[in-house]
Amino acid sequence: MSFPHQRNRRLRTSAALRSLVREHQISIDDLIYPLFVTHGVAVREEIPSMPGVYHLSLDQLEQEVLEITEAGIKAILLFGVPEHKDAVGSSAYDEHGIVQQATRQIKRINPEILVIADTCLCQFTDHGHCGVIHRDPDSGHAVIVNDPSLELLAKTAVSQAKAGADIIAPSNMMDGFVREIRTALDEAGMPHVPIMSYAVKYASAFYGPFRDAAHSSPQFGDRKTYQMDPANLREAVREAEADVQEGADFLIVKPALAYMDIIKTVRDRFTLPVVAYNVSAEYSMVKAAAANGWIDERQVVMESLLGMKRAGADLIITYFAKDIAGWLADQ
Ligand code: PBG
Repeated sequence: MSFPHQRNRRLRTSAALRSLVREHQISIDDLIYPLFVTHGVAVREEIPSMPGVYHLSLDQLEQEVLEITEAGIKAILLFGVPEHKDAVGSSAYDEHGIVQQATRQIKRINPEILVIADTCLCQFTDHGHCGVIHRDPDSGHAVIVNDPSLELLAKTAVSQAKAGADIIAPSNMMDGFVREIRTALDEAGMPHVPIMSYAVKYASAFYGPFRDAAHSSPQFGDRKTYQMDPANLREAVREAEADVQEGADFLIVKPALAYMDIIKTVRDRFTLPVVAYNVSAEYSMVKAAAANGWIDERQVVMESLLGMKRAGADLIITYFAKDIAGWLADQ
């Protein structure tokens, strides 16, 4: 008897053979873990819509950083939840701001861990927008103005880098932010600090839980005049092209799951490292379904992240990083 139709299945007959021909892997080296830091003492408050993700006060960082280090995670993306908000987001670029303090502290605890500072104003402005507002005195109509916002973002980036941030990650989507920040870092004597640009960032409903976590929901309107329209692919190429020209060192595509084609396109068109941001709702939906016993969390997460790798992501920013570290360790 012959079995002539086993051509493809031949390479799947055992676990060892499957691992021999496996094209992509998730490695702990690929993962960036977001962290939310806040004021106060002994704060370790779970974010209701993001089980397993916490607001941490500075005194909690020691334990957290040791855990992260132990897990083998090499990079943290730092978000600040400040006490004080105002129209121009001044605590974003305060030398004693929460991100700046946390950065110094993390680097003291473990100088090897990479601190990536998210550079945006929305957590720090009382109106919750990522830039400065100009309100027309007659009509009351408000617009988010580009260039005055750039100035503040550049100040923020410089103060973060001065505090010891290894990488600056601007997420605000104003035009020209990479050039402005690059120039400011260079002029401040920090030409070695790379920019991980949120080059392609869509106006997405998948940021909902993050906005709960960061208290950064816009108080009026939405972010559609600066973040991208989910219907557009070619526009993503234009956005990424501009950032490459302006001096970006990494290109982030965000969100990830509904945007695999964008990850692939950016990978194919550019040679910089591509970073997929596995955003908050992509995390919360899996956690919710897993808590209900509807899915196998580990398998669903690994399958999703493999999809991002296959699409061309070099790195993945994910709230699952610690979970994954545990899974990889007991493989
Ligand atoms: C700030 C910022 C946001 C996210 C990262 N940086 C929210 C937004 O743009 O509204 C979203 C991250 C996530 O959903 O996990 N601009």
